Amino acid sequence: MTAIRPLSWGRHYLMCRPEHFRVTYAINPWMDVESPVDPDLALEQWDRLAGTIEAAGARVERITQLPETPDMVYAMNYGLIDGDHVVVSRFRHEQRRPEASAAEWWFGEAGLRTTRVADARAGAFEAGDAFLVGTSLLVADGPRTDRATHDVLSRALGVRVTSVRITHPALYHLDLSFCPLDESRAIVAPSAWDAAGRARVAALVPQPLVIDDEEAFTFCANSVVVDDIVIMPAGLPVRVGRQLERWGFTVVAVDVSELHKGGGSIRCMTLPLDTVLDDARLELGDRHVTADPGLAVCQTS
Ligand code: ARG
Repeated sequence: MTAIRPLSWGRHYLMCRPEHFRVTYAINPWMDVESPVDPDLALEQWDRLAGTIEAAGARVERITQLPETPDMVYAMNYGLIDGDHVVVSRFRHEQRRPEASAAEWWFGEAGLRTTRVADARAGAFEAGDAFLVGTSLLVADGPRTDRATHDVLSRALGVRVTSVRITHPALYHLDLSFCPLDESRAIVAPSAWDAAGRARVAALVPQPLVIDDEEAFTFCANSVVVDDIVIMPAGLPVRVGRQLERWGFTVVAVDVSELHKGGGSIRCMTLPLDTVLDDARLELGDRHVTADPGLAVCQTS
């Protein structure tokens, strides 16, 4: 068994305490406006989650929730961090757009430089669709992100982008079907993607922990990894926990069931602030070297 080679990121997060969490609209198949949310329980579960992440050794920053944006608790989607630069999301749904402005303000206060890459022309980009994996930025297109933004991202950040198309409506963000664990391992739910996407992810992840739909629906891929500690939503499949432990990870389960009512879990609530995309950075000479249409390698020049 190969030893764990921890991710280069995952030790610093931005989170939003659910002061105004509720389900007043439905923009994903998990949301049901008829199902009531217990606000106190949501706060209690969130506090326990933030405490667990801190106890695992990571730092947690907090942003105040705007009263009119119930989904602001899902901080992962605010933007993609690259060192001191953030690409701010352009949300697919109007209901979430004010979050981007609030987050942009927070990033500025934190001393980060912000860019908005997606616009009405390029379409939507939601950061829950992007992860640094090996030497690529793996970016999904589908329910929340448009393919045209991949080229824009590649150019704006100077990184190699590998595209994966999400075809499963319930696994609408990449962070519901993909969870980087260490430098060679990830939890993957290939049933969320088209055939080309599956092949590209297989090429990027030497040791996948493959889960099926039913397992993915527990939100077990929506976990946070702090070095060798995997913080996962309670109800994770026993098989998945066992495999992680066999690899040497410590699994910590946290009940965030109230927050699942918005269609998100632990990863959705945590935006990593310490990602640096250097491993995916393109050299000038790389800029048009690919025949694979799934690799957006700055096709401008
Ligand atoms: N209700 C939110 C939405 O539909 C949930 C976001 C979940 N976040 C995530 N990173 N998957 O946008």
